[in-house]
Amino acid sequence: TGRLDRALAAFRAGEPVLIHDFDDREGETDLVYPAGAVTPEAVARLRNDAGGLICVAVSDAVADAVGLPFLEDQIDHPAAASHDLAYDDRSSFSLPVNHRDTFTGITDDDRARTITELASMVSTVEAGVDYGAEEFAAEFRAPGHVHVLRGAPDGLADRLGHTELGLAMAAETDQPPAVVVCEMLDDETGRALSTEAAREYARRNGFPYVEGEELVEALR
Ligand code: 5RP
Ligand code: CA
Ligand code: ZN
Repeated sequence: TGRLDRALAAFRAGEPVLIHDFDDREGETDLVYPAGAVTPEAVARLRNDAGGLICVAVSDAVADAVGLPFLEDQIDHPAAASHDLAYDDRSSFSLPVNHRDTFTGITDDDRARTITELASMVSTVEAGVDYGAEEFAAEFRAPGHVHVLRGAPDGLADRLGHTELGLAMAAETDQPPAVVVCEMLDDETGRALSTEAAREYARRNGFPYVEGEELVEALR
């Protein structure tokens, strides 16, 4: 079996996968987990080993069902008036949230709780249960410490971010569209971790590493 099949098998089993997007996009490698598999130990790995922003990507359809907007459409401040990302047309940020049973929201236990509850929320919506913004608000508060990302409506056909790459991995492995992504940063330079160092980290830990390009070719 090839590298992509091994990555899909690991992801299906709840293990993390490293996904590099594209040299002509962010040029970043994210550590990616199925959200339902995230434990407090996984949150510790995300903040210690990856070091970027810990986010949960959900599908456009689920976000729509529970009224989670694109944040840039909601912020009534001139800072959000014009969008000039250098690497894409728009950001996938939705609201940052905490599960209501968390305390500060930032501890490993609290973030793991918020993340796994988001995964179970997504499964509930996917099951066709009557669950909308009111039900979401009964379970989660905003602002919080876990950034929800909203996938593009047509997935990889629409946008080639880690948001959509991660959600495509979930779809391909028959998991609910709820995926944790976090950028791998270099502790020495503070920059995005190089692909060489990301592959070395993957090797050392027995995690699969895949290129956005191979995901697009196989899954789009
Ligand atoms: C949130 C981000 C990351 O780059 C993350 O990978 C999601 O964004 P994108 O879909 O644009 O790659 O900005 O920390
Ligand atoms: Ca980014
Ligand atoms: Zn990214």
